[in-house]
Amino acid sequence: MATKTATAKVTAAKTTVKGDFKDASLKEKGIARIEWAERDMPVLRAIKKRFEKEQPLKGYTMACCLHVTSETANLVRTLKAGGAKVHLCASNPLSTQDDVAAALSLEYGVPTYAIKGEDSEGEKSTYYKHLMAVLDEKPNLTMDDGADLVTVVLTKRKELAANVIGSMEETTTGIIRLRAMEKDKVLKFPVIAVNDANCKHMFDNRYGTGQSTIDGIIRATNVLLAGKTVVVSGYGWCGRGFATRAKGLGANVIVCEVDPLRAIEAVMDGFHVTTIEHAATKGDVFCTLTGNKHVIDTHHFEKMKDGAIVANSGHFNVELNLEGLAKIAKSRRQVREYVEEFTLKDGRKIYVLGEGRLINLASAEGHPASVMDMSFAVQALASEYAVKNKGKLDVRVHQLPKEIDQWVAKLKLETMGHKIDVLTAEQEKYMASWNEGT
Ligand SMILES: NC(=O)c1ccc[n+]([C@@H]2O[C@H](COP(=O)([O-])OP(=O)(O)OC[C@H]3O[C@@H](n4cnc5c(N)ncnc54)[C@H](O)[C@@H]3O)[C@@H](O)[C@H]2O)c1
Repeated sequence: MATKTATAKVTAAKTTVKGDFKDASLKEKGIARIEWAERDMPVLRAIKKRFEKEQPLKGYTMACCLHVTSETANLVRTLKAGGAKVHLCASNPLSTQDDVAAALSLEYGVPTYAIKGEDSEGEKSTYYKHLMAVLDEKPNLTMDDGADLVTVVLTKRKELAANVIGSMEETTTGIIRLRAMEKDKVLKFPVIAVNDANCKHMFDNRYGTGQSTIDGIIRATNVLLAGKTVVVSGYGWCGRGFATRAKGLGANVIVCEVDPLRAIEAVMDGFHVTTIEHAATKGDVFCTLTGNKHVIDTHHFEKMKDGAIVANSGHFNVELNLEGLAKIAKSRRQVREYVEEFTLKDGRKIYVLGEGRLINLASAEGHPASVMDMSFAVQALASEYAVKNKGKLDVRVHQLPKEIDQWVAKLKLETMGHKIDVLTAEQEKYMASWNEGT
């Protein structure tokens, strides 16, 4: 299990974090870690500088439910620099970096409700209380990674909805939930699909999740991937990034998909494509990245080889049917910090990583700062866009304007030292015409 090195204490009636951190050195470690990430976030730094001057979020209260990492710390500092009052809680019980939470609360003045390993079952859990604590601040803007805040506002805290002018969503699974809310006509305020911006999913999901999921599996197990058979469920943005990197490390990669287009893409990218039913007997290492439920089910676990390692990097811990696995196991024990061994009745052992929660954040540090620079630049600009368009956006899930995407991409390229060509006047005219040159 995860160690609990820090506790954020929610005081009785009011919901200010008092920073009841047991280890004072945590704050210093957190500051250094946040500054280290900031070095690699030049686009966000540029936005922060402008926000400090222009104060576009002044007078707005924001509730943010995100993975509490050093990159997120730089995002919330940017929002605060723009004048917002920011309150932060964790979007996953295992993804919090306690030193970062300590630094945010004690140094940067951002009340942070997050403890690595916090309990998360039901409404009495710490995770749920932390969601409630940021909502008690009566936010005008919410920012989610998985749509938990919006879900609570629309179900348990309906009185808060009228106060919310807009919400930003970071991940694929959150967007899927929000579109379902829109379809069921329960949404009460506009939502901006930050994940759908090209500068987010094309880079964060593919390169960020791809690399950090490999990192998480390796840190948890120290397994050598070269020569192993790695089974990837889901060949979307995240799955593609993970499969490509596993292949690059010398693994034989099998892809499982349900979408024929994505499956054929995997075939043409050179991967072996088959069903999970079949792949279950072949894999040494499994990883799900689908956003779907019970992608690896009990009968798949039953077929696995002795010693199989199973992880998930999709948003929720529902991709692996761990209740089913527990039922067919005769015993289970923790063998390393993020590795649980399940022994089946015939003696075969299956190793599950990070309780089936997104492994890149459970046992590693999540996405590198350089890629979160783009995602969080989009988040900061989406917040400004929501404020500028207060009362003008209808109640549905919105795409961000293309210009915001283009601006982030252009600045990122410049900060990486790359130059690109620009269209000549002749080329612009040619591209806009339908009969020139025929
Ligand atoms: N770990 C992280 O840090 C991180 C980062 C970004 C996104 N995510 C999450 O990862 C998940 C995937 O995101 P994405 O952007 O790649 O989504 P995506 O929609 O691009 O890809 C998901 C793929 O999974 C496939 N799929 C669905 N059910 C399946 C099943 N039963 N078996 C096999 N394939 C199946 C879909 O057809 C699709 O191609 C989401 O839950 C998302 O929120 C995690």
